[in-house]
Amino acid sequence: RPRVLSGIQPTAGSFHLGNYLGALRQWVNLQDSHDAFYMVVDLHAITIPQDPAELRASTRLAAAQLLAAGVDPDRCTLFLQSHVPEHAQLAWVMNCVTGFGEASRMTQFKDKSAKQGTEGTTVGLFTYPILQIADILLYHANQVPVGEDQRQHIEITRDVAERFNARFGRTFTIPEPYILKEAAKIYDLQDPTVKMSKSASSPKGIVSLLDEPKAAAKKIKSAVTDTGTEIRYDPEHKPGISNLLTIYSTLTDESVPVLEQRYADKGYGALKTDLAEAVTEWVEPFRARTQQYLDDPETLDAVLAKGADKARAVAAETLAEAYDRVGFVPAK
Ligand code: TYM
Repeated sequence: RPRVLSGIQPTAGSFHLGNYLGALRQWVNLQDSHDAFYMVVDLHAITIPQDPAELRASTRLAAAQLLAAGVDPDRCTLFLQSHVPEHAQLAWVMNCVTGFGEASRMTQFKDKSAKQGTEGTTVGLFTYPILQIADILLYHANQVPVGEDQRQHIEITRDVAERFNARFGRTFTIPEPYILKEAAKIYDLQDPTVKMSKSASSPKGIVSLLDEPKAAAKKIKSAVTDTGTEIRYDPEHKPGISNLLTIYSTLTDESVPVLEQRYADKGYGALKTDLAEAVTEWVEPFRARTQQYLDDPETLDAVLAKGADKARAVAAETLAEAYDRVGFVPAK
């Protein structure tokens, strides 16, 4: 079976609909056809200041949400990045194979560092993508299921892996991005020209997966659309309606043309009402399941410990090979 690996940051508290439709839904769907490794990237989280108690809570909350979304530890390996020290170790090696200029071109770093200011920007934020390179290469991932905003990080991973292989001999698998065209970028409900994002969007523009079902429905119903009446997928001229069609289609597995036809004579209101209902129906059991996992932290921690053992077995082997390739003397 081909291998997939992906990660999600724990820092937002509740995941949002963009995370789910753009990435997590694919994580869940790939579990049977692929040998899947999924992790909560707590090491990445501290590239921006975090309150320790909050980080601990949000990391467990992230794991609980992954389980509630359908990530199944019996069919994949689910773990916390910090439980597998090889990530930080291989990241160091990758730091030394990545060009400063190459890293400087990462657009996510440019965006995030602009927000933090020069003094607030840590070196960790700069090398964030290089830790991500290590994440992916440690597991010889063939595919990396992510949203469009992560494409550049997969591309730099490929470049650095190819460079390492050329310099030291074939060591790493070259990964491909796995980005579903239909769901690659879910947009903010209040400003459908920018992606839905916890850091960039106003709460009204984001459907958080742990929103009160009623609040989630309200956000869908008050989504910004246009002054027209036609329900048609046309991201350029009708970004709001197109975004709602995308959300509807990916959430319910009905195609956009089918939806366009169904709502052709019904108007924006009907589309929003039905989508709000579909979202509510999804959010309600999700919230309940997340709470169940949170209520039993011992089981949750045991799941993560088991995942870490499985992940380490793979990661240790890759790290040892990489260390050997670069010329480190073996310990003992
Ligand atoms: P993160 O935590 O920002 O987001 C998790 C996943 O959600 C996707 N996503 C979206 N997809 C569609 N529309 C949106 N509006 C939207 N917002 C977020 C992201 O593309 C991502 O797939 N750097 C990564 C985490 C990471 C990682 C890795 C991923 C660390 N190591 C190794 C893959 C492989 C990140 O910050 O994702």
